[in-house]
Amino acid sequence: MSRAPAPVIGIIGGSGLYQMDGLKDVAWRKVSSPFGEPSDELCFGMLEGTQVVFLPRHGRGHRIAPSDIDFRANIDALKRSGVTDLVSLSAVGSLREDLPPGTFVVVDQFVDRTFAREKSFFGTGLVAHVSMAKPTCSRLGDAVVAACDALGVAAHRGGTYLAMEGPQFSSLAESRLYRGWGCDVIGMTNMPEAKLAREAELCYATVAMVTDFDCWHPEHDAVTVDQVVSVLVGNASKARSLVKQVVPLLGGHEGPCRQGCQRALEHALITAPEA
Ligand code: ADE
Repeated sequence: MSRAPAPVIGIIGGSGLYQMDGLKDVAWRKVSSPFGEPSDELCFGMLEGTQVVFLPRHGRGHRIAPSDIDFRANIDALKRSGVTDLVSLSAVGSLREDLPPGTFVVVDQFVDRTFAREKSFFGTGLVAHVSMAKPTCSRLGDAVVAACDALGVAAHRGGTYLAMEGPQFSSLAESRLYRGWGCDVIGMTNMPEAKLAREAELCYATVAMVTDFDCWHPEHDAVTVDQVVSVLVGNASKARSLVKQVVPLLGGHEGPCRQGCQRALEHALITAPEA
């Protein structure tokens, strides 16, 4: 049996994640996509012998609002760059008392309430319906949790991420509704990213970094950007350490994903092949 190619680890997250000791052969490269403009150039580097590709989701300097991110171009550019395993880091609000700011939640489910974004690589001409029953890769999730444990970072395994359109934060009624639905964290960026990663047959995991309690919490009745940014700044070095710790764990793996993320299209195409 032929050996599968070595994994290439993609990291989508905030600006500055790539500024870490030990990242070698760093090169920023423009990667074009027929789907549009990726958020920025991609930053290629080697971490302990494993190829890593970073993409700042909002562009360097945080220039792109959540609804204006070209998620298809981002995922396509990462796929074209050879990425096999994608770890996504993002700021979220907490919908649970026991997930306070500073916690990293390794999300495993999503409720997608976004409505103004392109959500599929497929459409008229070539129709596909991939399964999103298990939207994240458990192998990647295990590695992220192991990396957090090794670093002493408070991590919570599992959770449902409510993806909202934004850019405004939720009303109190919405925040209460999402809690009632059993959602654990809320953010504006991980959908349709997770759906497109599945269509692109990438293994995908999300690290949701809690910055605030959203507005449902009786002692925190409004979310402010100052609050989000101050916790985010505190989380930035933890996030960099996490990436450094997790990449070697993923780099050791070779071969197809057992969960089937890398075969997501096998039973998903519905358009008849041309005769
Ligand atoms: N990102 C960080 N905090 C958030 C919140 N409370 N709602 C939506 N997105 C967020």
